[in-house]
Amino acid sequence: MSRSAHPAGPRHADVLPEGHWTAPATDLNALDEKVWSRTVTRDADGAVSVGGIEVARLAEEFGTPAYILDESDFRARCRAWADAFGADADVFYAGKAFLSRAVVRWLKEEGLNLDVCSGGELATALDAGMPAERIAFHGNNKTTAEIERAVTAGVGRIVLDSFQEIVRVAHVAQGLGTRQRVQIRVTVGVEAHTHEFIATAHEDQKFGIALADGQAAEAVRRALTLDGLELVGIHSHIGSQIFDMAGFEVSARRVVGLLAEIRDEHGVELPEIDLGGGLGIAYTSEDDPREPHEIAKALGDIVTRECESAGLATPRISVEPGRAIVGPTAFTLYEVGTIKPLEGLRTYVSVDGGMSDNIRTALYDAEYSVSLVSRSSDAGPMLVRVVGKHCESGDIVVKDAFLPSDLAPGDLIAVPATGAYCRSMASNYNHALRPPVVAVRDGRARVIVRRETEEDLLRLDVG
Ligand code: LLP
Repeated sequence: MSRSAHPAGPRHADVLPEGHWTAPATDLNALDEKVWSRTVTRDADGAVSVGGIEVARLAEEFGTPAYILDESDFRARCRAWADAFGADADVFYAGKAFLSRAVVRWLKEEGLNLDVCSGGELATALDAGMPAERIAFHGNNKTTAEIERAVTAGVGRIVLDSFQEIVRVAHVAQGLGTRQRVQIRVTVGVEAHTHEFIATAHEDQKFGIALADGQAAEAVRRALTLDGLELVGIHSHIGSQIFDMAGFEVSARRVVGLLAEIRDEHGVELPEIDLGGGLGIAYTSEDDPREPHEIAKALGDIVTRECESAGLATPRISVEPGRAIVGPTAFTLYEVGTIKPLEGLRTYVSVDGGMSDNIRTALYDAEYSVSLVSRSSDAGPMLVRVVGKHCESGDIVVKDAFLPSDLAPGDLIAVPATGAYCRSMASNYNHALRPPVVAVRDGRARVIVRRETEEDLLRLDVG
């Protein structure tokens, strides 16, 4: 298909493929705990609650669409990651998945570190009181101003992404009379996505410095000679929404191989390795993610084994999960506006949000599930496509799902597992107002990111 052709029409009008996971569930009222946050329950009267509050009450108080974030689930997931990796490793939450000042405070209280990848994320982290030494600064094209800010703040590490950046960060640090702790991000020739990984040729990307052709070794050589830098480790991130640990295994083996090379060439044993983020979550009942303790054990075992065989002391390991922490903790609450049945095909259910609050379906063909949450229903299943209110036929939130056939305008439906990369990738397309993030915990709800207003939009438009 040519780049200029509009894919939204024909591509999205295909019928449900045979054997697709969305065979009608036996009980449409059931809430699969794999995809819903931990305090979500359906009460005796059929309505759904989260954090002890009925979603209808949340809709009334905060409006729809809204992201509803289960704070105790978020904190529990932070603790599970911190406990799984223990005192000899570090967990950096990847702020790109979702970041706000409240989230920074929760991370701080639960003992996690924070990975930021822009000046804006850094500003949010610092403003909310994350100690600078617990911040890692990422990005493939950090500006000099961003580097200056990070070095001045005293961030714990800057992850160097290119040859130019090695010199830039060294120069800034030296100018400020300091030595910046840095890691070098390498591309290990592994790209993993969901159930697969490919261990060839994925140096063809903008991030990092290739291990191939001695590029990474050369980067290390240069970094070690610069006074402004304290090279503490090697970083690798291999992809997103990964279930298969095999990709991490190859990556860890190659990173440890580089550590051994560095020891042999420079007589230096770098003390840290970071294996990035990318651990998958359940978006639908079909997905089977790993628990943090399984991931920690698998990574720890691989690194220990590889280091032993290379005669290296085991370095301090760090990881950067974003989606795996925040993804399952939130759902998006929508009100049904219109319902359009297409005989023998499917029923289009339009909600009051869409691709402006969840671009992942349109952008990645992501799969989500959806449930009726303002009441239960005994009606039979109806095949639906949940769509938004934008002027675009690719404006799809849930491509194929089943909802009760008595669904009516005014009902509330919710799409679970939208905590990661939904609010953080939200847009103002069609001048939509980005929804609020409402945190619920122990019967209390509070807005942690407020809904945008038309005033907000007009304030930027200086006329
Ligand atoms: N560390 C680095 C260096 C990364 O580049 C990323 C994600 C992470 C950690 C966190 O990955 P996570 O554990 O959240 O998967 N917008 C896409 C995901 C892009 C991820 C980019 N980097 C999505 O919605 O699926």
